[in-house]
Amino acid sequence: MSTTTRPDPLKPTLPTDFLPLKGTDHIEFYVGNARQAAYFYRAAFGMSLVAYSGPETGQRDRASYVLQQGKIRFVLTTALRSDSEIARHVHIHGDGIRSIALWVDDARQAWIETTMRGARNIQEPATSSDEYGRVTTASIAAYGDTIHTFVDRGHYNGPFLPGFQTIHYDAVVRPVGLLHIDHCVGNVGWNSMNQWVDFYSHVMGFGLYQHFDDNDISTEYSALMSKVMANGNGYVKFPINEPAEGRRKSQIEEYLDFYQGPGVQHIALATADILATVSAMQDQGVQFLTIPHSYYSELQARVGAIDEPIDELERLGILVDRDNEGYMLQIFTRPVEDRPTVFYEIIQRKGSRSFGKGNFKALFEAIEREQDRRGNL
Ligand code: FE2
Repeated sequence: MSTTTRPDPLKPTLPTDFLPLKGTDHIEFYVGNARQAAYFYRAAFGMSLVAYSGPETGQRDRASYVLQQGKIRFVLTTALRSDSEIARHVHIHGDGIRSIALWVDDARQAWIETTMRGARNIQEPATSSDEYGRVTTASIAAYGDTIHTFVDRGHYNGPFLPGFQTIHYDAVVRPVGLLHIDHCVGNVGWNSMNQWVDFYSHVMGFGLYQHFDDNDISTEYSALMSKVMANGNGYVKFPINEPAEGRRKSQIEEYLDFYQGPGVQHIALATADILATVSAMQDQGVQFLTIPHSYYSELQARVGAIDEPIDELERLGILVDRDNEGYMLQIFTRPVEDRPTVFYEIIQRKGSRSFGKGNFKALFEAIEREQDRRGNL
């Protein structure tokens, strides 16, 4: 068995956690048209528009829409002019994730600890304030053009950050029961996984949580390798994927080709009722990968008794996996933009802390059918 799970991931691996994280603060996307992207996440994913900044609030070069559901906060940012790093990011990558922002008590200290250990500086600690209080942020580089922003909002009670205008009522939002971010997955280039595992280990103080090799994650055609890194308290989990040799182009290579480099592949969003959440998302137009009937005829024998009716799971295309702690249910959207890059996972954990290893084959075959339709297999 090539999969390992750290015995108790909730215990820090180091005597003192030099980078204590309270969770994910927000995910910032750079997109071509933030107003329309925001409508998609509000109407289809059930996120509520809570704050805005743009020309009307004195922001001259960009517009940002802050969306929230449960503890999940997305920021959609677009450039207002072509001579901007946001426009450059969108030109190269298409719509994609610029920052996985992390919630800390002391952004300055987080920046000092990580840059001292070799992180590349993106933005030195800076404090801004408005009538709601003050926030300190600082940023470091991660894989590709992705960054981590440390956010200390302990002295702030506004809707997002200083300078953002509060939106009190969203007439568009159709909530679907999404609660928090379970994990964020990065795709990196050939033979680069261990370099980024070292980065999260040495620079950010994360520990190895689980790993999968190409024996776990391969189909007839393609393969990949993955290591899951988790911070000391286990609140933040970053699986890192790299392509492995196969007969055809793997999904990771397809991503790297179209994103034009490493970047965030998918974000897993947790729900406490996956049947209701996925039903609502499908009704609201979100497209998910489809799974063949044979998966469900073998399911009961593979995972044993579960609370959810199997015909309902099959109707929605939800996958199930069990380990010695319990089981989990998961489903994957198609990419949410025209480039085959970023997609989402919806996950409900019932005891299991795993990532659905028993589903990898069915899942990757489903992705390969989509790659084939795009002419990229
Ligand atoms: Fe995942």
